[in-house]
Amino acid sequence: MSETLRRRAVLAGIGTYLPEKIVSNAEMAERVETSDDWIVERTGIRQRHFAGPHETCAFMGAAAARGALAMAGVAAEDVGAIILATSTPDQAFPATAVHVQAAIGAKKAFGFDIAAACSGFIYALGLANSMIQAGQADNILVIGSEVYSRILNFADRGTCVLFGDGAGAVLLSARDVPESGPGILSTHLHSDGTLADMLYVDGAVGQPDKPGHLVMNGREVFRHAVTLLASAVNEALAFNNLTSKDIDWLVPHQANRRIIDGVGRKLGMPPERVVVTVDQHANTSAASIPLALAQAMSDGRIKPGQLILLEALGGGLTWGSALLRL
Ligand code: ACO
Repeated sequence: MSETLRRRAVLAGIGTYLPEKIVSNAEMAERVETSDDWIVERTGIRQRHFAGPHETCAFMGAAAARGALAMAGVAAEDVGAIILATSTPDQAFPATAVHVQAAIGAKKAFGFDIAAACSGFIYALGLANSMIQAGQADNILVIGSEVYSRILNFADRGTCVLFGDGAGAVLLSARDVPESGPGILSTHLHSDGTLADMLYVDGAVGQPDKPGHLVMNGREVFRHAVTLLASAVNEALAFNNLTSKDIDWLVPHQANRRIIDGVGRKLGMPPERVVVTVDQHANTSAASIPLALAQAMSDGRIKPGQLILLEALGGGLTWGSALLRL
């Protein structure tokens, strides 16, 4: 008897872009009073990439998108939608997604940006998954692209050492697959605007003379992050009738090694099954999950058929999870 098939959003391709310029902790120590030891001990970060003038949010997003399309073997003209998550768009409007559309020649797509800070990629995946389930598009580019170096306050050593620039993209393709087949199995999204003053940018184009810098209460973010991320992961496991033993890989948002380890410990996930790239990229906000996922896929750690749990938390506060089989 043939197995029943269901329509799922399958990760068909992944691509990344990292700016050419790498900035070590020692170089950050030339700009602010800090040290490699302090940064590594508190965060696990060893270096970050900072974008040059030509490496804009759209430029990096388009480069990552081209990589995802090439891996999937899908032509740009066959893309139905582009959802780009960013807190650092090139312009207030038009959306960075339409600049990416033009750059890659995705003539038949529609595109828009979403703002959910470091949870942006998970939010975009959730939206894209719903759109594929609804039959609105068959191929959707989901992109996280960030140039946080443009909003960092380089006089604040408590924040400027934590972030970096980069982009990651996945192509989600609609496929009819068996129950045990690949695709997104669930997404769960949350926000709590009463916690907005914990992590924010103190300006925007809508505010006169206020371009804006990132402001953060690091201790409070840390305290909330471990609890909320563990609860997001447990929610995804319960929804899918799974335990953490069933998960092959946890790919967390890469903010801070101590947050990643704290969540891993709470879940009983051994460190060998948790992907960490924060040491090389620092916190690239909405780009951090696809950058980490791409690295672990390309070095052969993550394999087809494996179950992957993604989780993120960021300004809003926003947080959430996505479970997928490759
Ligand atoms: N180098 C040297 N000293 C520093 C630096 C620095 N870069 N930054 C702060 N300090 C000093 C402070 O001035 C303070 O000195 P004092 O005791 O003389 O006043 C001391 O270090 C301790 O400062 P705290 O802010 O209390 O340090 P803490 O141990 O909390 O570590 C950190 C700070 C790393 C930001 C931590 O709070 C943290 O990891 N928070 C999570 C925030 C995060 O990762 N946010 C990312 C965005 S949100 C997300 O993506 C999940």
